[in-house]
Amino acid sequence: MLWFPYTQMNKMKEVPKLNGAKGVEMYLSEGKTLIDGISSWWSAIHGYNNEEINQAALDQLNKFSHFMLGGISHDPALNLAKELVRITPKDLNYVFFSDSGSIGVEIALKIAIQYWKNLGISSKNKIVYLKDGYHGDTFKAMEVSSDSDFNNAFSEILNPQIELEIPVGGYYPKSADLQLAIDQMENVFRNQHQEIACFILEPIVQCAGGFNIYSPNYLLAARELTQRYGILLIADEVATGFGRTGKMFACEHAGITPDIMVLGKAMTAGYIGHAATLATSKVYDAFLGDNYEIALMHGPTFMGNALACSIALKGIEIFERENYLDKITEIESFIEEELNDISSPHILNIRKIGGIVALEFSNKKYLDGFGKFALQNGAWLRPIGNIVYLMPAYIIKREEIGHLFYVIKLWINKIETPTTENF
Ligand SMILES: Cc1ncc(COP(=O)(O)O)c(C=O)c1O
Repeated sequence: MLWFPYTQMNKMKEVPKLNGAKGVEMYLSEGKTLIDGISSWWSAIHGYNNEEINQAALDQLNKFSHFMLGGISHDPALNLAKELVRITPKDLNYVFFSDSGSIGVEIALKIAIQYWKNLGISSKNKIVYLKDGYHGDTFKAMEVSSDSDFNNAFSEILNPQIELEIPVGGYYPKSADLQLAIDQMENVFRNQHQEIACFILEPIVQCAGGFNIYSPNYLLAARELTQRYGILLIADEVATGFGRTGKMFACEHAGITPDIMVLGKAMTAGYIGHAATLATSKVYDAFLGDNYEIALMHGPTFMGNALACSIALKGIEIFERENYLDKITEIESFIEEELNDISSPHILNIRKIGGIVALEFSNKKYLDGFGKFALQNGAWLRPIGNIVYLMPAYIIKREEIGHLFYVIKLWINKIETPTTENF
C-alpha cells in the first residue's frame, strides 16, 4: 500500500485519483476537471503536458535517459550547467547536480563547512538560519529549518544551529524594525563568527514556513555582513527560483550574489526531480589540490540525469522566449484585482509577491475541510496550516485565476455564515 507524504495514514480518507493533466487543468478518474492553483508544490511552472517539453524528453529518451556522471560527461549536463551559470547572478560559475531540493541543500551545507576545513579552519562549522525557514526534510536541512511538524519527531537528535529572525514589516519594513533585525544579525556574527561556517536563507520569501516576505535591504545586509565577518552566504532558491517572486531569482531583488545557491523544483518544470548547487570560484577553488581529502566527496547516482537536464534546458528556453517574467507581472495584477473584494474578519493578513499570494486566516480551524470544498468546486488548493495560497503555473489565464478566487470567496462566505455543519 502507498505511504503518503505528511499524512497520518490512520486518519487518511480516500484521495482523488489523477488520470491526466494539461496546462493548468487536472482530470480526475471520476470525470471531474480541476484548476490547479499550486503547480505540484510550485514546480510545474509551464503547466502539465507541455508539448515542447514532452518532445525534448522523448528526443533525449531515444538517445539515453541516464548515464552516471562519474568519469564521463554528456551534452545535457554540460549545457545545463552552462545555462545555469548564464542565468544566475554573476560569479556563480560551478554547478553540482543532485536529485532533489533537500539534497541540493545538504550539498550546499557540506560545501560550506568543508570550505573552511579545507582552508584549515575546522572550528567554523555552525550554521545560521532564519526562523520560520524551510530547507527540506533530510537531517542537516531539518537542523536549519524552524521547529515544526516536519521535524519535531527528531528534535532530541538534531544539532542546535543559530536562529535569526527576519524583520517584521514585509518587503517595506519600518526602518527601525529593519535595523533591529540587522543589528541582531550583526551581533551574532560579531560574537560567533569564529564558529560560523555559513548563513542559509530563502531570499525574500520563506515559502513553506508561511509565505513570510522580507525586505531586500535585509538580504543586502546579510550579504555585506557575511562578507565582513567571513561567513558564506547560501541562498536556497529551490522555491523562489525561476521567476516565482517576479525576478528570475529572488537574490536579484537585492542585486546580490550569494557564495552558494540551490535550485530545484521549477528547474525541471515539474516533470522530474533534480536540483543544482552552484558555487562561486572562490568556494570552488578551496576544493582544488593534490588529494581527495579536500575534494567534494559527494555523488548521487542520478546527478546530471540526462532526461532531467534536457527537460530543464527546454524549460529555460521557453521561459525566456515566452517572456515569463511579463506573464508573472500580469498574474500579479490579476491577483490584485481579485483581492479588491476580499475582506473577512477571519483573514489576518494577505501577503503577495510575483506569482505568490497567501491569505492567512486567524485560526487553522477556519480552513478545516477547505481542500475538499475546493475540489468539489473544481480547484486544487491545499492550505498550509492557517494559510491558503496560490502559486500557479505561469501560463495560467485570467479566468482560471478568477475561478480559483471564486472558490476561495465562496469558502469565505461559507465561514462567515457558520452553520453547525461547517465546523
Ligand atoms: C526552500 C526549499 N528548500 C528545499 C526544499 C526541499 O526540496 P525537495 O522537496 O525537492 O527535497 C523545499 C521544498 O519545498 C523548499 O521549499
